[in-house]
Amino acid sequence: MKLPVYLLPVPSQIENIMKSQDMESQINNLLNTRFIGRQLHYYPHLSTTMDTARELVKKGAGEGTVVIAGTQTAGKGRIGRTWFSPEGSLAMSVILKPPIKNLPQLVMIASLAVVGAIKHVSGLEAGIKWPNDVMIRGKKVCGILIENEVAEGKVNYADIGIGINVNFNPRELPQITDIATSLSHESGKEISVVQLAATLIDELERLYLAAQDGAPVHSEWQKKMETLGKHIKVDTGKTIEHGVAETVTENGNLILRSTDGNFVEIVAGDITVIKD
Ligand code: BTN
Repeated sequence: MKLPVYLLPVPSQIENIMKSQDMESQINNLLNTRFIGRQLHYYPHLSTTMDTARELVKKGAGEGTVVIAGTQTAGKGRIGRTWFSPEGSLAMSVILKPPIKNLPQLVMIASLAVVGAIKHVSGLEAGIKWPNDVMIRGKKVCGILIENEVAEGKVNYADIGIGINVNFNPRELPQITDIATSLSHESGKEISVVQLAATLIDELERLYLAAQDGAPVHSEWQKKMETLGKHIKVDTGKTIEHGVAETVTENGNLILRSTDGNFVEIVAGDITVIKD
């Protein structure tokens, strides 16, 4: 007679499951939202929250589903770059299904929500570097990547990926020392990842609903945009443009007054500040 074989989780898997459940309930207990974060999946380690979120959508996950990872082994950045997510990071993907007219506002909503959450949990003032890097004292503390699927004029889903450097010393990480900072480094104190995640989710929902009610998200975003008025270089992937960052459009594009005096509208690109 053949006896059934039961596969039992090994101790490290049990530890991960317990950590996940603990984090999920801690974050859930702090949430004040109607729908964002009410389905929340926490993983101590993931390759990238972007892929996990997309897989969940394909299996029917609803609007507001959140995926959080403690660390990522294959974090994705903008323009095909990798995103470094060591211990002490917050890596989050949020699934939204906005009306198509609100899709361009997600960039603004996400970066404004991060700036608000940082202020709330750490007291630090952060600014936005176009299009959606969040900066403190000239160094990057958060990156945002948005992936979406649109068909027949309808948004099937948008995945807002947010990576925040929370509790680590950037000076110990040569990969990012020169360009990045963290909340603990800037504030001189450890920041609660649970509190940060919950506040960020609250802020995202507040701004997302306000935008759909016609709130002036664009002008709030413009006020926090520290790039404006600066001499910059923009690498669009096809051309390099030089000039002064004049303003941003309602769709989030950057208007550059180029060195020959012409105005150029930049849809996507990577900027370097040449002169404040
Ligand atoms: C950038 O500045 O290049 C964007 C970085 C976006 C990183 C976040 S971390 C959570 C989500 N998962 C990823 O793999 N990337 C985004």
